[in-house]
Amino acid sequence: MTASPNDDATVTPPAATDTSVVDPAPRPHATAEEVEAARKDTKLAQVLYHDWEAETYDDKWSISYDERCIDYARGRFDAVAGDQPLPYERALELGCGTGFFLLNLMQGGVAKTGSVTDLSPGMVKVALRNAESLGLPVDGRVADAETIPYEDNTFDLVVGHAVLHHIPDVEKSLREVLRVLKPGGRFVFAGEPTTVGNFYARWLGRATWEATTRVTKLPFLADWRRPQEELDESSRAAALEAVVDIHTFDPTDLENMAKSAGADQVHAATEEFAAALLGWPVRTFEAAVPPEKLGWGWGRFAFGGWKTLSWVDEKVLRHVVPRGFFYNVMITGVKPGN
Ligand SMILES: C[S@@+](CC[C@H](N)C(=O)[O-])C[C@H]1O[C@@H](n2cnc3c(N)ncnc32)[C@H](O)[C@@H]1O
Repeated sequence: MTASPNDDATVTPPAATDTSVVDPAPRPHATAEEVEAARKDTKLAQVLYHDWEAETYDDKWSISYDERCIDYARGRFDAVAGDQPLPYERALELGCGTGFFLLNLMQGGVAKTGSVTDLSPGMVKVALRNAESLGLPVDGRVADAETIPYEDNTFDLVVGHAVLHHIPDVEKSLREVLRVLKPGGRFVFAGEPTTVGNFYARWLGRATWEATTRVTKLPFLADWRRPQEELDESSRAAALEAVVDIHTFDPTDLENMAKSAGADQVHAATEEFAAALLGWPVRTFEAAVPPEKLGWGWGRFAFGGWKTLSWVDEKVLRHVVPRGFFYNVMITGVKPGN
């Protein structure tokens, strides 16, 4: 069971540091010139790519705000920081996307109030809309994780999911995280690709895409083929993906980076090896065929298979496979003081 911070009637929404700043508007339809410019400007690419994705992102990644994703978010948090007293009073999320991590952590009793931030105005808009529909006390603003627009010593907890690998200067961002944390405050980043994991995930993804899009050219499988313009759009998106995905991480190097940024009690953990070997082909196949072809049985197979293999990873493979081979790395640390 999960606790709801909304049970506490004293909770009030947090305020952004400078409310006079007006966030830029989302740009969901980039021009060809903007896309061309974005190939050489990673931060412009982040904005265009994620503004374009924002309204469909939850569907694309099967993100929900129910027990399934609350458990998933809590599981990632607990894997590195599960022994901490909860809830934290005030939390910040960097690269929030649609709010998947912080909103589900708040629903899971990890934090009472939250601030969601992202470089993409479209993502912040969707995250705030999701928070409002869940009745969570959350504010938000457009923000670059390398220059966080909040005062020193503001937050008890800073979180992020699948964001560090997009940030050009990760150590600079971690220094910013420590600056806005209160002394003794904690950060938790999860869902980052390891270097080895990213290699096999990309390879499996490409192979699945090629195989599926070729096989569905056969006349008797024509109704399994998505319209060519949709496939072309996915290929263009994949090209920008290469510009926005900047880093992969070795867990020990990531720990050293967090320490050199000034963090204490740094600890990285990894997960998903067998689960990732199934998960990447499954996700790529889902993107390559018309969604209506994949019914309830497929969903059961994909989620059930992932859960079973995650169990095998946790109970068996974790003891025999080096941690750098797992796909996901997460890291925690604490701001010195207190
Ligand atoms: C892969 S998405 C993850 C979104 C969300 N955290 C999730 O797990 O669903 C990465 C997000 O990081 C944001 N982002 C990329 N670079 C950023 C930066 N320098 N500062 C803040 N956000 C950034 C992107 O706009 C995007 O929304």
